[in-house]
Amino acid sequence: MEFKKMGKMTLGCIAAALSCSAFAVTATPGSLTVATGSAQTVQIANVSGSVSVFSSKSGIATVSMTDATHYRITGTKAGSVVLEFKDSKTSAKVNVTVTTAPSASLNGRLLASNCFQCHGTNGTGGFERLAGKSASEIYGDLKEFASGQEDANGIMAAHAMGFSDDQLRSIASYFSSIR
Ligand code: HEC
Repeated sequence: MEFKKMGKMTLGCIAAALSCSAFAVTATPGSLTVATGSAQTVQIANVSGSVSVFSSKSGIATVSMTDATHYRITGTKAGSVVLEFKDSKTSAKVNVTVTTAPSASLNGRLLASNCFQCHGTNGTGGFERLAGKSASEIYGDLKEFASGQEDANGIMAAHAMGFSDDQLRSIASYFSSIR
């Protein structure tokens, strides 16, 4: 991997008949980890001409230029992607790993575990399967139960009434994320 990259740069420099160290575009850091919804900055240097950014996979991270030498990398979906910054002569790669924002997913699962005894672990069985339903459908059902409209003395009313609106949204979004 490292060897291949060096080889490529050397070739680029021979083709351009220029000194490598001064004219090969660089990107710092060469690898980074970012959570979904958060951003990190990559600095590029030694640019000849204009820079184009290529992505090995779409939908994982978005890239936007903040000024001539800085790019903002924002995580969109968990996964990994290689970004390539190419100028007229050379290119530099940045390995980006996007992780799920930890607090949101942990909190959702912890709250949702109150439902596992009847709806199965992760909502995959029991009375009513919850896993994979849309968040808005689950949330809507829960609000109905919580309001007492559905069956004020039923099992689900008692459960839904015990959570705040934010917690119900978090629970619904957790179950909807399970496949
Ligand atoms: C003690 C058992 C029990 C627990 C715990 C429980 N449920 Fe239920 N749930 C049921 C039963 C039984 C039904 C179906 C009967 C009804 O509608 O009241 C149901 C129905 C539902 C429905 C409606 C499904 C549909 O398709 O109509 C949703 C949504 C739901 N539960 C979500 C939850 C969530 C989220 C939790 C955790 C906060 C939870 N339940 C905890 C027993 C339980």
